[in-house]
Amino acid sequence: MAQYQSFPDVEGDSRTLEKLKALSIPDLAGRRFLDVGCNEGFFCGFAKFRGAERVVGIDHSQSYIERARKRFPTCEFFAQPWDHLPEGPYEVILLASALHYADDQNALIRQIMNNLTPDGTLVLELGIASSPTAEWKKISRGIDERLFPSMPMVKGMLSDYAWKWIGPSVLQEGDPVPRHVIHVTRKRPMAYLLMQPPGYGKTTMAEKLFQPAGVRVISGDEILHLVSQGRLPASNGLTHAIRTDYSPFRIDSTVRRMFDEGHGVEFVSLLLGSSQEDFALDTYVPAEHQASVVSLIKSAGFVPVCFEWERAGEALLPMEAAFQAAEDYHSFLQQAQVKGGEAVPSYNKGVQGFVDEVYRLPNRLVVRGWAVDAHGRAPSVLAVRVDGKSYLVRAYERQSRPDVQTHLDLPHPRYGYQVSVPLESNSSAASSEAIEVRAGASEEDLGPPLRFSSIIRTSDDL
Ligand SMILES: C[S@@+](CC[C@H](N)C(=O)[O-])C[C@H]1O[C@@H](n2cnc3c(N)ncnc32)[C@H](O)[C@@H]1O
Repeated sequence: MAQYQSFPDVEGDSRTLEKLKALSIPDLAGRRFLDVGCNEGFFCGFAKFRGAERVVGIDHSQSYIERARKRFPTCEFFAQPWDHLPEGPYEVILLASALHYADDQNALIRQIMNNLTPDGTLVLELGIASSPTAEWKKISRGIDERLFPSMPMVKGMLSDYAWKWIGPSVLQEGDPVPRHVIHVTRKRPMAYLLMQPPGYGKTTMAEKLFQPAGVRVISGDEILHLVSQGRLPASNGLTHAIRTDYSPFRIDSTVRRMFDEGHGVEFVSLLLGSSQEDFALDTYVPAEHQASVVSLIKSAGFVPVCFEWERAGEALLPMEAAFQAAEDYHSFLQQAQVKGGEAVPSYNKGVQGFVDEVYRLPNRLVVRGWAVDAHGRAPSVLAVRVDGKSYLVRAYERQSRPDVQTHLDLPHPRYGYQVSVPLESNSSAASSEAIEVRAGASEEDLGPPLRFSSIIRTSDDL
């Protein structure tokens, strides 16, 4: 039996060490490795040396396999043809200098690819005939005649997969065609991730770049809207997290709470649905949660591609800051007591307002109503007392109440409030006696408890 592979103790026809360098075999530690047409087991020994967990070599030559077993007793060797492969899957499969021996070269590639793990790599070393067209070229060698594919034919053969030409392989004496190394992996769908904050132009970018290219655009805002409306089924926890203060204008705070409360995994699975096609994601994800979204999308089989860019123009002012600036200006005008050039009496009616709605979520209490502080402004502070605990809330959602504006002749309608505070799971707060809401321009300037205008609603009413 001719000596093909070269070892330190015996010289073969092949410059095996040089070939090993050219193959650029991926990391093998803890992985499963199969060498198809393994000859005397040189590459199996390498895999074991690099810490592979399982190493299997097959060759239809009984004598090569016997020699391989002697050299590398801790590897598994099978004397068998490659029509069937030992049960996998494998993270790395090697097919070196052997494809041209296959009766159906396409079928052998397909079979090998089917035995890879989803992330696995076929390290393919093969001779490629020179031709600009896709063809199999019959090449006479000293010993026989074999079919070698041209490069266009290789491209066709691998068109169902992702592949990368790694470089030329080592030349062997008498080689009729140059050899090349190609790494082949399964194609995976792409996930183009636009996760920048609101106001960065995500939707515009998705419409310009991805929609025209036929890439499906998934909108996080739309998913949130559908869940808030009960039109997309979701767990109670996620539904409540979204409904607590859902507003299309305040989507960032809803998204942030949803992630902070641990609903990120479910949100991502709602975004992904069951499709395995390429998609572009148009949804804000707070910076500290982006890595976990990326890894969830990756483990769902996609290749995540993150887009990051600077916001064009100045950053958006937080909505609270804009309201506050308007309120401050209004107060300034009142203090100057000038309106249309005439002195007007300053607003001095004390704190006014109502609690219109109170409803319980599993661990939050949400209160809605309206309030005007002693200076005629939307209050800067709301104090909510429930179950004997007091919460001072400065950042609350302001809602439009044109009825209050008309009724009190106020300069704008944004005197409505919606506030949410923690609720103990065993809370008995279910009546106006157990809950107190006060409002004021500051903590020191709180008015008397606001009156209740309506009944308590629980989450069941939502
Ligand atoms: C040129 S050698 C390459 C050996 C090794 N892969 C290397 O690169 O050093 C081709 C090997 O493929 C094996 N072989 C050829 N046809 C085969 C088949 N149908 N099934 C299994 N092995 C086969 C041969 O016995 C031989 O060991």
